[in-house]
Amino acid sequence: MQLENKRAIVTGGAGGIGRAAALAFADEGARVAVVDVDAEGAAAVADAIVAAGGDAIALTADVSIDTDVRGVVDETVAAFGGIDVVFNNAGIVRRATAIDTTVEEWDRVFGVNVRSIFLMAKFAVPVMADDGGGSMINTGSGWGLTGGANALSYCASKGAVVNMTRALAIDHGPQGIRVNSVNPGDTNTGMLRDEARQLSADEAAFRAESADRPLGRMGEPEEIAAAVVWLASDASSYVTGSALVVDGGGIA
Ligand SMILES: NC(=O)c1ccc[n+]([C@@H]2O[C@H](COP(=O)([O-])OP(=O)(O)OC[C@H]3O[C@@H](n4cnc5c(N)ncnc54)[C@H](O)[C@@H]3O)[C@@H](O)[C@H]2O)c1
Repeated sequence: MQLENKRAIVTGGAGGIGRAAALAFADEGARVAVVDVDAEGAAAVADAIVAAGGDAIALTADVSIDTDVRGVVDETVAAFGGIDVVFNNAGIVRRATAIDTTVEEWDRVFGVNVRSIFLMAKFAVPVMADDGGGSMINTGSGWGLTGGANALSYCASKGAVVNMTRALAIDHGPQGIRVNSVNPGDTNTGMLRDEARQLSADEAAFRAESADRPLGRMGEPEEIAAAVVWLASDASSYVTGSALVVDGGGIA
């Protein structure tokens, strides 16, 4: 098992990529704190892990709020005795240009996608450092590397995630903490389906929109989770500050 004895936090763990990662972490032997604003969804994932013989807790938190993130760190330490892995994955998207993005939307996207990672690093890094180190993985996006249409605040926030990851890796490498971003392309989750619904309700059309890449299809959340398991595990022990792209061979 790749994550035996690891104690992990997964944000946005109620759905999509976070849910797949929480389940994969548990399958690989980790104890998992499943964190989400969606209390019911987080509880369902933690229950599924426990039902399969694993160890998990569900924590309700808005990751953009400092006291919530502090609470997640404290409750995880109280439950598991420490933290070895943090997967900062919770995120939101607003589809709008600069003209159509409200100031409130801009701040919300940056609160959930960027501030959250600063807060988690602020509170969890000292705990990880005390234990001799660990691995933090932050969910960026292909659009954080290339930009994309009609999603200015999202593209800006994900660009920030990629560079924050590098800066955190530089600051905390000496403490034994590796920090990497995973950058998915189109992935079959609620987020993508919500967006696609604006374009087409038809399943075939939804899938066809993501077919313009070498592998000819969108990704599944489990395929992103597999990369995150690797970054969380000791198998990636010399990898830090990297931006791993998992997108079927093409971002557009
Ligand atoms: N699906 C894609 O195509 C795709 C592509 C690139 C990057 N991403 C990124 O992957 C990550 C996961 O997205 P997903 O596709 O699984 O989406 P999703 O909407 O299925 O899951 C996101 C989860 O985050 C939770 N969440 C939202 N705001 C939160 C907050 N303030 N505090 C705590 N939890 C919160 C939601 O409740 C949800 O469970 C996001 O960071 C997203 O930007 C997704």
